[in-house]
Amino acid sequence: AEDVQGDLTEVLFSKEEIEAKIAELAAAVDADYQGRDVLLVGVLKGAVMVMADLCRALQGQYPMDWMAVSSYGSGTKSSGVVRILKDLDTDLSGRDVLIVEDIIDSGLTLSWLRANLESRRAASVEVCALLRKPEAAKTAIDVKYVGWDIPNEFVVGYGLDYDEKYRNLDCIATLAPHVYA
Ligand code: PRP
Ligand code: MN
Ligand code: MG
Repeated sequence: AEDVQGDLTEVLFSKEEIEAKIAELAAAVDADYQGRDVLLVGVLKGAVMVMADLCRALQGQYPMDWMAVSSYGSGTKSSGVVRILKDLDTDLSGRDVLIVEDIIDSGLTLSWLRANLESRRAASVEVCALLRKPEAAKTAIDVKYVGWDIPNEFVVGYGLDYDEKYRNLDCIATLAPHVYA
């Protein structure tokens, strides 16, 4: 495999910092949902690492399911029109749902997804996202659990990709402009 260090400019969050943050988020989720049957819904593919670590940091019993979604049309992912590539296997009616995401960028994916899951008569739909970019927001989303707010820079690692690369980094880092220029 190629060496990726030269593609990165700065480590924003180390493996250890991410681990500590996930533990904090898990403790908050456990406290809020005590005794309730909550379905974790991971959004493929970026949320795979957050889900894998979050679900193991949780004390309670949390079933999980996955969705894969993609934006329609022009190639820009900020259209807000979303297509389901892989749907849930689980019936949501009457269920408490917690969407697990790696990052909220424009917020358009999540805004659509949340409305979609609510329309399936879920009892509640909340969001847990490790990262959020407030400066990039195109729509307001009520996010119950956020790890960190970050500046509007291109970040990769821990599930986050550029062109399907860098997802397997154990830290979250900014991508050097020469990579995407
Ligand atoms: C990324 C990220 C979020 C979404 C956020 O997914 O994982 O799911 O974009 O963007 P938004 O807030 O502007 O809608 P992507 O579509 O790149 O797919 P991936 O998870 O497979 O990388
Ligand atoms: Mn994603
Ligand atoms: Mg992506």
